[in-house]
Amino acid sequence: MKAIVVTDQEAGPAGMTLTERSEPKAAGNDVLVEVHASGFTPGELEWPSTWVDRLGRDRTPSIPGHEVAGVVSALGYGTRGLSVGQRVFGLADWTRDGTLAQYVAIEARNLAPLPGDVDFTVGASLPISGLTAWQGLFVHGRFQQGQSVLVHGAAGGVGSMVTQLAGQAGAYVIGTGRAADREAAVGFGAQEFVDLDNDTLEDVGGIDLVFDVIGGDIGKRSAALVRPGGMLVTIAGPPETQPKDGLAVDFVVEADRAQLGEIVRRVREGRLRTNIGRVVNLDDAVSAFNSTERIKGKTVVRP
Ligand SMILES: NC(=O)c1ccc[n+]([C@@H]2O[C@H](COP(=O)([O-])OP(=O)(O)OC[C@H]3O[C@@H](n4cnc5c(N)ncnc54)[C@H](OP(=O)(O)O)[C@@H]3O)[C@@H](O)[C@H]2O)c1
Repeated sequence: MKAIVVTDQEAGPAGMTLTERSEPKAAGNDVLVEVHASGFTPGELEWPSTWVDRLGRDRTPSIPGHEVAGVVSALGYGTRGLSVGQRVFGLADWTRDGTLAQYVAIEARNLAPLPGDVDFTVGASLPISGLTAWQGLFVHGRFQQGQSVLVHGAAGGVGSMVTQLAGQAGAYVIGTGRAADREAAVGFGAQEFVDLDNDTLEDVGGIDLVFDVIGGDIGKRSAALVRPGGMLVTIAGPPETQPKDGLAVDFVVEADRAQLGEIVRRVREGRLRTNIGRVVNLDDAVSAFNSTERIKGKTVVRP
Protein backbone atom coordinates (compact mmCIF):
# COMPACT_ATOMS: atom_id res chain seq x y z
CA MET A 1 0.00 0.00 0.00
CA LYS A 2 1.00 3.64 -0.34
CA ALA A 3 1.96 5.37 2.90
CA ILE A 4 3.78 8.46 4.13
CA VAL A 5 6.61 7.63 6.52
CA VAL A 6 8.96 9.62 8.72
CA THR A 7 12.40 8.53 9.95
CA ASP A 8 14.16 11.74 11.03
CA GLN A 9 12.76 13.75 13.94
CA GLU A 10 14.97 16.76 13.22
CA ALA A 11 13.71 17.07 9.63
CA GLY A 12 10.07 17.95 10.50
CA PRO A 13 7.60 17.78 7.57
CA ALA A 14 10.58 17.93 5.13
CA GLY A 15 11.39 14.39 6.28
CA MET A 16 8.02 12.99 5.15
CA THR A 17 8.30 10.51 2.26
CA LEU A 18 5.62 8.77 0.19
CA THR A 19 6.58 5.11 -0.08
CA GLU A 20 5.28 1.53 -0.41
CA ARG A 21 4.61 -0.38 2.81
CA SER A 22 3.01 -3.74 3.44
CA GLU A 23 -0.62 -3.63 4.56
CA PRO A 24 -0.97 -3.78 8.36
CA LYS A 25 -2.67 -6.78 10.00
CA ALA A 26 -5.58 -6.40 12.38
CA ALA A 27 -4.33 -7.58 15.82
CA GLY A 28 -6.60 -8.69 18.67
CA ASN A 29 -9.53 -6.27 19.16
CA ASP A 30 -8.42 -4.32 16.07
CA VAL A 31 -10.13 -3.60 12.83
CA LEU A 32 -8.33 -3.00 9.56
CA VAL A 33 -9.72 0.18 7.99
CA GLU A 34 -9.49 1.03 4.32
CA VAL A 35 -8.72 4.73 4.63
CA HIS A 36 -11.01 7.05 2.62
CA ALA A 37 -9.80 10.24 4.32
CA SER A 38 -7.32 11.11 7.03
CA GLY A 39 -6.14 14.06 9.09
CA PHE A 40 -2.70 15.08 10.36
CA THR A 41 -1.71 17.59 13.02
CA PRO A 42 1.76 19.12 12.40
CA GLY A 43 2.57 18.96 16.14
CA GLU A 44 2.62 15.15 15.87
CA LEU A 45 6.15 15.22 14.48
CA GLU A 46 7.36 16.71 17.78
CA TRP A 47 5.59 14.15 19.98
CA PRO A 48 7.69 11.22 21.30
CA SER A 49 4.89 8.80 20.33
CA THR A 50 5.71 9.36 16.65
CA TRP A 51 9.24 8.08 17.20
CA VAL A 52 9.17 5.50 20.02
CA ASP A 53 6.69 2.99 21.37
CA ARG A 54 5.38 2.92 24.95
CA LEU A 55 8.58 1.23 26.14
CA GLY A 56 10.73 3.89 24.49
CA ARG A 57 11.87 1.62 21.64
CA ASP A 58 12.51 3.17 18.23
CA ARG A 59 9.51 2.57 15.97
CA THR A 60 10.69 4.37 12.84
CA PRO A 61 9.96 4.41 9.98
CA SER A 62 6.56 5.38 11.36
CA ILE A 63 3.40 6.51 9.59
CA PRO A 64 1.96 9.77 10.99
CA GLY A 65 -1.70 10.85 10.92
CA HIS A 66 -4.21 9.79 13.57
CA GLU A 67 -7.58 10.87 12.28
CA VAL A 68 -9.39 8.49 9.98
CA ALA A 69 -12.64 7.96 8.14
CA GLY A 70 -13.02 4.82 6.09
CA VAL A 71 -14.52 1.36 5.77
CA VAL A 72 -13.76 -1.70 7.91
CA SER A 73 -12.08 -4.30 5.70
CA ALA A 74 -11.09 -6.98 8.27
CA LEU A 75 -11.53 -7.82 11.96
CA GLY A 76 -8.86 -9.01 14.39
CA TYR A 77 -9.34 -11.89 16.82
CA GLY A 78 -12.00 -11.09 19.41
CA THR A 79 -13.10 -7.81 17.82
CA ARG A 80 -16.69 -6.93 18.71
CA GLY A 81 -19.01 -4.05 17.90
CA LEU A 82 -18.03 -3.30 14.29
CA SER A 83 -18.39 -5.33 11.13
CA VAL A 84 -16.68 -5.67 7.76
CA GLY A 85 -18.02 -3.09 5.28
CA GLN A 86 -19.07 -0.64 8.01
CA ARG A 87 -18.29 3.08 7.62
CA VAL A 88 -16.29 4.32 10.61
CA PHE A 89 -14.31 7.30 11.84
CA GLY A 90 -12.09 7.92 14.84
CA LEU A 91 -8.75 8.54 16.46
CA ALA A 92 -5.83 6.12 15.97
CA ASP A 93 -3.41 5.28 18.78
CA TRP A 94 -0.51 7.76 19.01
CA THR A 95 2.15 5.03 19.38
CA ARG A 96 1.11 2.95 16.36
CA ASP A 97 1.37 3.51 12.63
CA GLY A 98 -1.20 6.09 11.60
CA THR A 99 -3.61 7.06 8.89
CA LEU A 100 -1.56 8.75 6.12
CA ALA A 101 -1.80 5.46 4.23
CA GLN A 102 -4.27 3.35 2.31
CA TYR A 103 -4.95 1.09 5.33
CA VAL A 104 -4.60 1.41 9.09
CA ALA A 105 -4.99 -1.18 11.88
CA ILE A 106 -6.75 0.37 14.83
CA GLU A 107 -8.49 -0.77 18.00
CA ALA A 108 -12.24 -1.02 17.40
CA ARG A 109 -13.00 0.95 20.57
CA ASN A 110 -11.22 3.99 19.08
CA LEU A 111 -13.79 4.17 16.28
CA ALA A 112 -17.45 5.08 15.95
CA PRO A 113 -19.89 4.41 13.11
CA LEU A 114 -19.88 7.16 10.47
CA PRO A 115 -23.46 7.77 9.28
CA GLY A 116 -24.00 7.24 5.54
CA ASP A 117 -24.90 10.88 4.95
CA VAL A 118 -21.65 12.24 6.44
CA ASP A 119 -18.85 12.52 3.92
CA PHE A 120 -15.54 10.74 4.66
CA THR A 121 -13.73 14.09 4.34
CA VAL A 122 -15.92 15.58 7.05
CA GLY A 123 -15.54 12.44 9.19
CA ALA A 124 -11.73 12.62 9.06
CA SER A 125 -11.75 16.29 10.08
CA LEU A 126 -13.68 15.68 13.30
CA PRO A 127 -11.86 13.33 15.69
CA ILE A 128 -9.00 15.48 17.06
CA SER A 129 -10.66 18.88 17.02
CA GLY A 130 -14.08 17.57 18.04
CA LEU A 131 -12.93 15.27 20.84
CA THR A 132 -10.40 17.82 22.17
CA ALA A 133 -13.08 20.51 22.33
CA TRP A 134 -15.61 18.15 23.92
CA GLN A 135 -13.21 16.79 26.53
CA GLY A 136 -11.73 20.21 27.36
CA LEU A 137 -15.12 21.80 27.88
CA PHE A 138 -17.29 19.07 29.36
CA VAL A 139 -14.90 16.54 30.94
CA HIS A 140 -11.85 18.48 32.16
CA GLY A 141 -13.41 21.96 32.20
CA ARG A 142 -16.67 20.83 33.87
CA PHE A 143 -18.49 23.55 31.94
CA GLN A 144 -21.87 24.64 33.27
CA GLN A 145 -24.61 26.46 31.40
CA GLY A 146 -24.38 30.24 31.70
CA GLN A 147 -20.61 30.36 32.24
CA SER A 148 -18.28 32.63 30.28
CA VAL A 149 -15.71 30.85 28.08
CA LEU A 150 -12.69 32.54 26.51
CA VAL A 151 -11.46 30.51 23.52
CA HIS A 152 -7.97 31.22 22.22
CA GLY A 153 -7.44 30.54 18.51
CA ALA A 154 -11.20 30.58 17.96
CA ALA A 155 -10.86 30.42 14.17
CA GLY A 156 -8.56 27.36 14.28
CA GLY A 157 -9.26 23.63 14.25
CA VAL A 158 -9.89 23.07 17.97
CA GLY A 159 -10.95 26.64 18.80
CA SER A 160 -13.75 26.70 16.22
CA MET A 161 -15.20 23.51 17.75
CA VAL A 162 -14.91 24.88 21.30
CA THR A 163 -16.61 28.10 20.23
CA GLN A 164 -19.56 26.26 18.67
CA LEU A 165 -19.99 23.63 21.40
CA ALA A 166 -19.70 26.18 24.21
CA GLY A 167 -22.18 28.57 22.56
CA GLN A 168 -24.73 25.80 22.05
CA ALA A 169 -24.31 24.67 25.64
CA GLY A 170 -25.26 28.14 26.86
CA ALA A 171 -21.90 29.89 27.30
CA TYR A 172 -21.05 33.53 26.73
CA VAL A 173 -18.15 33.03 24.31
CA ILE A 174 -15.21 35.36 23.78
CA GLY A 175 -12.94 34.27 20.96
CA THR A 176 -9.34 35.37 20.38
CA GLY A 177 -6.91 35.19 17.50
CA ARG A 178 -5.29 37.35 14.87
CA ALA A 179 -7.04 40.42 13.45
CA ALA A 180 -7.94 38.51 10.28
CA ASP A 181 -9.65 35.78 12.34
CA ARG A 182 -12.39 38.03 13.75
CA GLU A 183 -14.99 37.28 11.08
CA ALA A 184 -14.44 33.53 11.21
CA ALA A 185 -14.57 33.47 15.03
CA VAL A 186 -17.82 35.44 15.07
CA GLY A 187 -19.14 33.14 12.35
CA PHE A 188 -18.50 30.17 14.64
CA GLY A 189 -20.52 31.91 17.34
CA ALA A 190 -18.13 34.08 19.39
CA GLN A 191 -20.04 36.98 20.93
CA GLU A 192 -16.88 39.05 21.41
CA PHE A 193 -13.44 38.87 19.85
CA VAL A 194 -10.02 39.85 21.19
CA ASP A 195 -7.42 40.57 18.50
CA LEU A 196 -4.29 39.32 20.27
CA ASP A 197 -2.01 41.53 18.15
CA ASN A 198 -3.85 44.82 18.72
CA ASP A 199 -6.21 44.53 21.72
CA THR A 200 -5.24 44.14 25.37
CA LEU A 201 -6.09 40.62 26.51
CA GLU A 202 -6.10 41.77 30.14
CA ASP A 203 -9.09 44.04 29.44
CA VAL A 204 -11.17 40.85 29.57
CA GLY A 205 -11.37 39.39 33.05
CA GLY A 206 -13.42 37.31 35.43
CA ILE A 207 -13.74 34.41 32.99
CA ASP A 208 -15.20 31.10 34.20
CA LEU A 209 -13.30 28.90 31.73
CA VAL A 210 -10.31 29.87 29.57
CA PHE A 211 -9.53 27.32 26.82
CA ASP A 212 -5.93 27.79 25.67
CA VAL A 213 -4.63 26.25 22.44
CA ILE A 214 -1.67 28.64 22.06
CA GLY A 215 0.45 28.43 25.25
CA GLY A 216 3.69 30.40 25.72
CA ASP A 217 3.23 34.05 26.67
CA ILE A 218 -0.52 33.92 25.87
CA GLY A 219 -0.86 30.91 28.17
CA LYS A 220 0.95 32.69 31.01
CA ARG A 221 -1.18 35.82 30.67
CA SER A 222 -4.35 33.73 30.50
CA ALA A 223 -4.14 32.47 34.08
CA ALA A 224 -4.89 35.97 35.37
CA LEU A 225 -8.13 36.12 33.35
CA VAL A 226 -9.71 33.27 35.33
CA ARG A 227 -12.15 34.33 38.04
CA PRO A 228 -11.86 32.85 41.55
CA GLY A 229 -13.13 29.27 41.34
CA GLY A 230 -12.73 29.23 37.56
CA MET A 231 -10.65 27.02 35.31
CA LEU A 232 -7.79 27.27 32.80
CA VAL A 233 -7.92 24.35 30.38
CA THR A 234 -4.90 24.02 28.11
CA ILE A 235 -3.89 21.67 25.31
CA ALA A 236 -0.57 23.44 24.69
CA GLY A 237 1.45 21.65 27.40
CA PRO A 238 1.55 22.07 31.18
CA PRO A 239 0.60 25.65 32.15
CA GLU A 240 3.54 27.72 33.42
CA THR A 241 1.26 29.98 35.47
CA GLN A 242 -1.71 28.82 37.55
CA PRO A 243 -4.85 30.88 38.14
CA LYS A 244 -4.59 32.52 41.57
CA ASP A 245 -7.81 31.11 42.99
CA GLY A 246 -8.74 28.66 40.29
CA LEU A 247 -7.67 25.39 38.72
CA ALA A 248 -5.50 24.63 35.71
CA VAL A 249 -5.66 21.40 33.75
CA ASP A 250 -3.73 20.25 30.70
CA PHE A 251 -4.65 17.08 28.89
CA VAL A 252 -4.11 15.01 25.76
CA VAL A 253 -7.18 14.04 23.75
CA GLU A 254 -8.37 10.43 23.97
CA ALA A 255 -10.51 8.30 21.67
CA ASP A 256 -14.11 7.93 22.85
CA ARG A 257 -16.84 6.25 20.82
CA ALA A 258 -19.76 7.84 22.65
CA GLN A 259 -18.32 11.36 22.30
CA LEU A 260 -17.60 10.78 18.59
CA GLY A 261 -21.26 9.80 18.26
CA GLU A 262 -22.40 13.01 19.94
CA ILE A 263 -20.12 15.10 17.73
CA VAL A 264 -21.24 13.53 14.45
CA ARG A 265 -24.89 13.78 15.54
CA ARG A 266 -24.46 17.56 15.86
CA VAL A 267 -22.79 17.69 12.43
CA ARG A 268 -25.76 15.86 10.86
CA GLU A 269 -28.19 18.18 12.59
CA GLY A 270 -26.34 21.16 11.14
CA ARG A 271 -25.35 22.37 14.61
CA LEU A 272 -21.60 21.82 14.24
CA ARG A 273 -19.56 23.06 11.31
CA THR A 274 -16.20 21.46 10.69
CA ASN A 275 -13.21 23.57 9.73
CA ILE A 276 -11.57 22.10 6.61
CA GLY A 277 -8.87 24.26 5.01
CA ARG A 278 -7.98 22.06 2.04
CA VAL A 279 -8.34 18.52 0.69
CA VAL A 280 -5.34 16.87 -1.02
CA ASN A 281 -4.54 13.44 -2.47
CA LEU A 282 -2.08 11.17 -0.65
CA ASP A 283 0.29 11.60 -3.63
CA ASP A 284 0.34 15.39 -3.08
CA ALA A 285 0.23 15.39 0.72
CA VAL A 286 3.98 15.66 1.38
CA SER A 287 4.27 18.80 -0.73
CA ALA A 288 1.07 20.19 0.84
CA PHE A 289 2.47 19.70 4.35
CA ASN A 290 5.71 21.41 3.28
CA SER A 291 4.03 24.35 1.59
CA THR A 292 4.44 27.80 3.14
CA GLU A 293 0.91 28.75 2.07
CA ARG A 294 -1.12 29.78 5.11
CA ILE A 295 -4.12 27.46 5.39
CA LYS A 296 -6.84 28.04 7.98
CA GLY A 297 -8.41 24.81 9.15
CA LYS A 298 -7.67 21.14 8.71
CA THR A 299 -5.84 19.55 5.80
CA VAL A 300 -7.69 16.35 4.89
CA VAL A 301 -5.84 13.73 2.84
CA ARG A 302 -7.67 11.34 0.50
CA PRO A 303 -5.76 8.27 -0.73
N1 LIG B 1 -3.27 18.21 23.89
C1 LIG B 1 -4.06 17.75 22.93
O1 LIG B 1 -4.74 16.75 23.09
C2 LIG B 1 -4.16 18.49 21.63
C3 LIG B 1 -5.20 18.17 20.76
C4 LIG B 1 -5.33 18.90 19.56
C5 LIG B 1 -4.42 19.91 19.27
N2 LIG B 1 -3.40 20.16 20.14
C6 LIG B 1 -2.46 21.26 19.87
O2 LIG B 1 -3.21 22.45 20.01
C7 LIG B 1 -2.73 23.44 19.13
C8 LIG B 1 -3.87 24.01 18.31
O3 LIG B 1 -4.36 23.00 17.42
P1 LIG B 1 -5.35 23.41 16.22
O4 LIG B 1 -5.56 22.19 15.42
O5 LIG B 1 -6.51 24.13 16.76
O6 LIG B 1 -4.39 24.44 15.43
P2 LIG B 1 -4.82 25.58 14.40
O7 LIG B 1 -5.92 25.10 13.51
O8 LIG B 1 -3.56 26.07 13.78
O9 LIG B 1 -5.46 26.71 15.34
C9 LIG B 1 -4.72 27.54 16.18
C10 LIG B 1 -5.26 28.95 16.00
O10 LIG B 1 -4.63 29.82 16.95
C11 LIG B 1 -4.06 30.93 16.24
N3 LIG B 1 -2.86 31.39 16.92
C12 LIG B 1 -1.77 30.67 17.25
N4 LIG B 1 -0.86 31.45 17.87
C13 LIG B 1 -1.39 32.69 17.92
C14 LIG B 1 -0.94 33.94 18.44
N5 LIG B 1 0.24 34.05 19.04
N6 LIG B 1 -1.75 35.01 18.31
C15 LIG B 1 -2.95 34.91 17.70
N7 LIG B 1 -3.44 33.76 17.20
C16 LIG B 1 -2.66 32.66 17.31
C17 LIG B 1 -3.72 30.36 14.88
O11 LIG B 1 -3.54 31.39 13.94
P3 LIG B 1 -2.36 31.23 12.83
O12 LIG B 1 -2.76 30.03 12.02
O13 LIG B 1 -2.42 32.51 12.10
O14 LIG B 1 -1.08 31.00 13.59
C18 LIG B 1 -4.95 29.50 14.61
O15 LIG B 1 -6.05 30.26 14.16
C19 LIG B 1 -1.63 22.75 18.30
O16 LIG B 1 -0.39 23.06 18.89
C20 LIG B 1 -1.92 21.28 18.46
O17 LIG B 1 -0.77 20.47 18.31
C21 LIG B 1 -3.25 19.48 21.31
